Amino acid sequence: MISTKCLLTAGVLLVGIVGMNRGSQAEETASLKKVFKDDFLVGTALGTRQIAGREAGALELAAKQFNSITPENCLKWAEVHPEADEYDFEASDEFVEWGEANGMFIVGHTLVWHNQTPPWAFAGVDGKPLDRETALARIKTHIDTVVGRYKGRIHGWDVVNEAINDQGKLRTGPVGTWPNRGEPWHAAIGDDYIEQAFRMAHAADPEAELYYNDFNEWYPAKIKAISELVTGLKAKGVRIDGIGLQGHWGLDYPTLEEIDTMFTEYGKLGVKLMITELDVSCLPAPDSETGADITRIVSAGPGQNPFPNGLPPEKQEELAARYAAIFQLFEKHRDKIERVTFWGVHDGQSWRNNWPVPGRSDYPLLFDRKMQPKSAFEAVIGTATSE
Ligand code: G3I
Repeated sequence: MISTKCLLTAGVLLVGIVGMNRGSQAEETASLKKVFKDDFLVGTALGTRQIAGREAGALELAAKQFNSITPENCLKWAEVHPEADEYDFEASDEFVEWGEANGMFIVGHTLVWHNQTPPWAFAGVDGKPLDRETALARIKTHIDTVVGRYKGRIHGWDVVNEAINDQGKLRTGPVGTWPNRGEPWHAAIGDDYIEQAFRMAHAADPEAELYYNDFNEWYPAKIKAISELVTGLKAKGVRIDGIGLQGHWGLDYPTLEEIDTMFTEYGKLGVKLMITELDVSCLPAPDSETGADITRIVSAGPGQNPFPNGLPPEKQEELAARYAAIFQLFEKHRDKIERVTFWGVHDGQSWRNNWPVPGRSDYPLLFDRKMQPKSAFEAVIGTATSE
């Protein structure tokens, strides 16, 4: 007969094995930054609440999974320089300090943009339209102050954001709202405002990498225009290190062929390519529009918010397959791709919940609202070629 002693010993052993297994399972959640370490950096956008440590678990997850960070909002002109003689560096200081403490490649987003820029910056003197000299002086003061403050600490800057429209033309004119989005900096300064901004950013921190960032980056007209912009700057000896391809995509757009072509074409320019704001919406698009203009707001039609209480398993698998296919293309072009940054840590944080239709429940990232890995996470990990 088996003695109690034996049973107990067996029991203890069993608990031990289970415990160990459970321990190692928890410890074994893979890490995006580790599995892609030989291919490209993997980053995330941190919101101001997260940076302040006011969202339990977000920074821990970010430190575990990512080796690059971008501020979702706290370094934008309206947030960091709300008045001509007023700067607010509280959140951005915390952002950079946390990044340094966690060995992150720190990205600054964004210096010159028609959006999230306070009205005073675009206002002319004495009620007149903004003139070239005043506009250049304001951009210079802004860049000297913001880039100067983080000199040698922020490793790369999105210097100019979303300057080119879907027809491949430089935006110009008053800010406006979608679909008539203008660019007051161009209206005041002219075609060379981008060149001037890159020269100013380089002067403010000669070590920092400098990028041009945009959405709808796979549109042929934008590939042509952005390629001409980069080639033109390089021809003038203006430092530009890379192109930010935002990556605000869906389950069925852009096609894999369009993404493949995009990397091949931009890969000819001899600059770094970064996916800078990746998210893949799981929701029905209200129309054929793509892009990321925050002022494009569409009212909710029937069936526009199909998954208010969670993404069904078949949709989870559709998202996982989509992300796997996308990352297989990133792996194919890993010789050109420097970084892949997700536009948020988890689904609950994503701007896609309120765009273009406010108040929906979307699931565009790899971690759910409880910050647990989704099957899309496992699928992405599975595409990594380097062990
Ligand atoms: O900070 C103000 C706060 O003071 C005010 O009380 C509150 C209520 O209106 O608004 C807060 O500003 C919000 C800001 O996020 C900070 O939370 C703005 O309303 C809101 O529009 C802004 O949304 C951001 C959006 O850019 C603005 O364009 C999103 O979080 C951010 O994810 C999104 O990111 C952009 C990239 O920078 C560039 N590419 C496209 C991408 C998506 O639009």
